Amino acid sequence: MKYKILLTGSSGYIGSCFNGIFHKKLNIYCLDQTKPNFFSNFKKKNFFKCNLLNKKKLENIIYKIKPDIIIHLGAQSTVNEKIKWSNYYRNNIKATKNLIEIMNKFNVRKLIFSSTASVYRAKKKKLSEKDKNKKKNKKKKNKMIKKKKKRYFKNSKYS
Ligand SMILES: NC(=O)c1ccc[n+]([C@@H]2O[C@H](COP(=O)([O-])OP(=O)(O)OC[C@H]3O[C@@H](n4cnc5c(N)ncnc54)[C@H](O)[C@@H]3O)[C@@H](O)[C@H]2O)c1
Repeated sequence: MKYKILLTGSSGYIGSCFNGIFHKKLNIYCLDQTKPNFFSNFKKKNFFKCNLLNKKKLENIIYKIKPDIIIHLGAQSTVNEKIKWSNYYRNNIKATKNLIEIMNKFNVRKLIFSSTASVYRAKKKKLSEKDKNKKKNKKKKNKMIKKKKKRYFKNSKYS
């Protein structure tokens, strides 16, 4: 049986590459606030245009798909100190909170969240999740808050 995978941020850089590589092997449902633009193998019926901040719409989509796994790449990823902190907060933290709450509601137990190595202090050896965090800019702060939020989401498996 093929697992159903919901890929948020599917129109972005990593999402479109992931879908382009795995769409034949995996059962992928794409979700993004913007239309897909990189990959050509995209199936229209498997794409959902939705802003993660629209909780009701997101809930309906997740209810309809009933995914086994959510790969969460939907985020404001570019670091720009001119962008207001509140925009980052809404788009990244609030959106992730919405997703996790809906996952809890529908008992979706597997979340793969893409963090970034830049939250850690630089070192020559391979980084580990136990390494110390380096607070520096909005993106890193966001990622650290998201990591903390995930701890509230018990009995789940993360990659
Ligand atoms: N690109 C990298 O090298 C890299 C490395 C490490 C971690 N990451 C992380 O992986 C994730 C994806 O990175 P990327 O490079 O593909 O980013 P990207 O900016 O190319 O794509 C992000 C996608 O998310 C969508 N999105 C943003 N906010 C949304 C919302 N509220 N609702 C619905 N869709 C929304 C955007 O429309 C976009 O298509 C980010 O969290 C990023 O920090 C990226």
